[in-house]
Amino acid sequence: QSVAAVIPAAGIGQRMQAAIPKQYLHIGDATVLEHSIRAMARDPRIGAVFVATASDDRWFAQLEIDLTIPVVRVEGGATRAQSVAAGVTAAQRAGYRYVAVHDAARPCLARSELAAVIEHGLEHSAGALLALPVADTIKRGSASGYALETVPRDGLWQALTPQVFSISVLLDAWRMIGLDDPLLTDEASAIEALGLQPRLVMGRRTNIKITQPGDEVIAAALLPEILQ
Ligand code: CTP
Ligand code: MG
Repeated sequence: QSVAAVIPAAGIGQRMQAAIPKQYLHIGDATVLEHSIRAMARDPRIGAVFVATASDDRWFAQLEIDLTIPVVRVEGGATRAQSVAAGVTAAQRAGYRYVAVHDAARPCLARSELAAVIEHGLEHSAGALLALPVADTIKRGSASGYALETVPRDGLWQALTPQVFSISVLLDAWRMIGLDDPLLTDEASAIEALGLQPRLVMGRRTNIKITQPGDEVIAAALLPEILQ
């Protein structure tokens, strides 16, 4: 139990256009966030889950989480990176040396994916992230909506979560480049900016991020298969 899960869950879910933040929408028997927390707790190396929520969050306290490991609420920030940093700092204070950062909005994480990314993250000093080779043809578009060129997709990967790092390496990376760089849309990008190379671990296409209306329907269809 050497790894702390950190789940950023302080977003407002603007693109989802729901009445409440998307992490609190129900899918089957539980909210999106509960599915994500349960998914992270399924690996025996995870010792605690730190969930970063908004300062004015009204929903987290209502969840009925029945896990054998601690689930700790911390206050998130104005950006995803700040929310993650709050969770990572709390994990360090609790004595953890490694973190597995996972978006609250990815409830369909499979046990096998989590196991693989933790294994590589503990083994490799620059850490590891789940990712998928880009499958579609990729275009560069103009601001006015015309195709300018086709970007060769060889070597292009789509970054998923979880991403697993040594806390000290991640904190060093943030100290070097700050938390406010707009290119920091995941944790691996901070490590890459240090010149280190996190390991890409093959994820599953089912590990979707609930982003737009309708995604919850896809997630509901995927979950039973993931949980088998
Ligand atoms: N997140 C966070 N703190 C923020 C912003 C985002 O903890 N200040 C979390 C979200 O709750 C989500 C994850 O980061 O679990 C991924 O972000 P995203 O999918 O962009 O969620 P939102 O920012 O909530 O959605 P949107 O961008 O559509 O508003
Ligand atoms: Mg966002």
